[in-house]
Amino acid sequence: MNMNPKLNDIREVVEADRKHVWHHLIQHKTFETVDPRVIVEGRGMRVWDAAGREYLDAVSGGVWTVNVGYGRESIADAVRDQLVKMNYFANSAGSIPGALFAERLIGKMPGMTRVYYSNSGSEANEKAFKMVRQIAHRHHGGRKYKILYRERDYHGTTIGTLSAGGQPQRAEQYGPLTPGFVEVPHCLEYRSQYGAVENYGEAAADAIEKVILREGPDTVGAICLEPITAGGGVITPPAGYWEKVQDICRRHNVLLHIDEVVCGVGRTGEWFGYQNYGVKPDFVTMAKGVASGYAAISCTVTTEAVFELFKDNPDDPMSYFRDISTFGGCAAGPAAALENLRIIEDEKLLDNTKAMGVRLERNLRALMEKHEVIGDVRGKGLFFGAELVEDRATKQPADEKKVAAVVGACNADGVLIGMTNRSLPGFNNTLCLAPALISRPADIDAITEAIDRALTKVFG
Ligand SMILES: Cc1ncc(COP(=O)(O)O)c(C=O)c1O
Repeated sequence: MNMNPKLNDIREVVEADRKHVWHHLIQHKTFETVDPRVIVEGRGMRVWDAAGREYLDAVSGGVWTVNVGYGRESIADAVRDQLVKMNYFANSAGSIPGALFAERLIGKMPGMTRVYYSNSGSEANEKAFKMVRQIAHRHHGGRKYKILYRERDYHGTTIGTLSAGGQPQRAEQYGPLTPGFVEVPHCLEYRSQYGAVENYGEAAADAIEKVILREGPDTVGAICLEPITAGGGVITPPAGYWEKVQDICRRHNVLLHIDEVVCGVGRTGEWFGYQNYGVKPDFVTMAKGVASGYAAISCTVTTEAVFELFKDNPDDPMSYFRDISTFGGCAAGPAAALENLRIIEDEKLLDNTKAMGVRLERNLRALMEKHEVIGDVRGKGLFFGAELVEDRATKQPADEKKVAAVVGACNADGVLIGMTNRSLPGFNNTLCLAPALISRPADIDAITEAIDRALTKVFG
């Protein structure tokens, strides 16, 4: 079958898509009158759709994934070579790229020692939740089973991870959810829950401790947090927050699980988001940027202390981690991840991310001077959000339809940007930007110029 249709045949592809593909996170009624978008090619930071239209992609594949950019032949070659040599064997056995990538990854994560492979962010988080639950059963008499999560954070799409989700619109209508997950308040100072406190970061961390004390510290096994809340509004943690969270976890013997599915592997200008804040986690999960979308791979990384808890009693047939992910044994993932890591190092993409992030923030702050509708700009590295408000004084969120119109206007202008999407009732009002780590100054300027024009068009 011809997998590379000529432009003449592309109508057939679009019609096949319209007829048979159920797209993610989209209401399909619209495709009765409008063509579904089919992306056919990508190079660097640009993609082309079925109609031949070119877009500058400011969201790295829609959901912040293609960190090293499109069309990387060296990754495709690495994957191909691996597939013809050994494509798959269950991960109860090892593989050459699996072992080598684990070693390279651990080299970037002082304090961590073990990598458990699976193939999506949700799955990586589920593994950590299962580990926490098993630790509770085996070492705490079943009591320390509760897992805390934070309002506005997202950890995945499965029923388990939705139960740990702080975004009500993602979970609504999919209940009943899994018991044993408990919410703590968000840490977005722009929307402070505590009025004008002197140190908001400490107040937000104290709120976590209150929840632990309310639930009973002997019942709380872990807390799962994004280093920077991503889809919940790009929330950078306030000063003093992480230090205090770490201290609270130590004092109450609560394991710290950092969800790096978005921030991991370079997005913030450090290898991991938590490394911006000096945090020492017990679990780190990652997915999107691990192989930049060239293959499906996710990792649940733990300390040796956590790992040891699963091998202390070899005589007990139930004592080890009795979990498997079939496709965690696909060798394409770590093969792609190894080459992805090499590219980030050789092309000095962390330095570039920091430098381009400074430019992106500067441009967005300049837009804030010009457009009253931008109430707040937040982010780190090449990950930024601009929260839109009707009125800066009251901070009333901008109407979601108008925010979507800004995204649509950028789109029509040839620049793909994102927004908080079906996350929080009334607060789907933050524009999201996560261009590839290879961004050049001209790309960053083109993105913010398109937003400038779109804001003028929609809000005047
Ligand atoms: C922070 C975070 N964790 C987990 C996930 C789930 O990852 P996946 O869609 O690969 O299951 C996402 C997805 O956007 C995410 O943003």
